[in-house]
Amino acid sequence: MAVRELEPRDVDAVLAIQRACPEIAQWSRLDYERVEAGEMVGWVAERIAGEGALGPSVVGFVVARNIPPEVEILNIAVAPEARKHGVGSDLFDRVLEWARSEGATQAILEVRAGNDAALRLYHRREFHIVGRRPRYYSNPVDDALLLTATL
Ligand SMILES: CC(C)(COP(=O)(O)OP(=O)(O)OC[C@H]1O[C@@H](n2cnc3c(N)ncnc32)[C@H](O)[C@@H]1OP(=O)(O)O)[C@@H](O)C(=O)NCCC(=O)NCCS
Repeated sequence: MAVRELEPRDVDAVLAIQRACPEIAQWSRLDYERVEAGEMVGWVAERIAGEGALGPSVVGFVVARNIPPEVEILNIAVAPEARKHGVGSDLFDRVLEWARSEGATQAILEVRAGNDAALRLYHRREFHIVGRRPRYYSNPVDDALLLTATL
């Protein structure tokens, strides 16, 4: 698996992964064009030649934006069939590496309170809960947690 920058040719694959992930914000094609416009940055995780599995080669993505002195992680997802193999961790570490290289001092993100997989990923990287918005999400109803990490 390799992590590389998100390119316009990846948007179909990103939208397909997104559709399989009801936990995350469902963005439009236009939203992802903001990467090309330089308003945010993104990476994809791609199977490399020889990994041989059938199915799509792009299996995960992450998008973020720089709002100095913070970086906000906007969306991260891994295709259901590719989870629990470290892909989410690789994508998340890549975005944190970028954030540090940009001189950001803090990273922020928002997550459903019931999203155990995402919370484990974030807690392992020293993200802490700093806020809660009760019943912020619908379908299903859930609180939103605001997490931050000092970089
Ligand atoms: C969250 C997500 C990106 C993690 O991707 P992944 O490739 O499975 O992550 P990894 O394999 O790198 O695992 C990261 C950690 O989470 C843990 N984890 C993964 N799935 C888990 C689950 N269902 N329940 C509890 N922990 C889980 C792993 O054990 C690992 O912890 P460790 O480092 O202590 O071993 C993935 O589950 C996903 O795409 N979920 C749907 C979209 C989503 O919720 N995005 C976050 C929105 S804020």
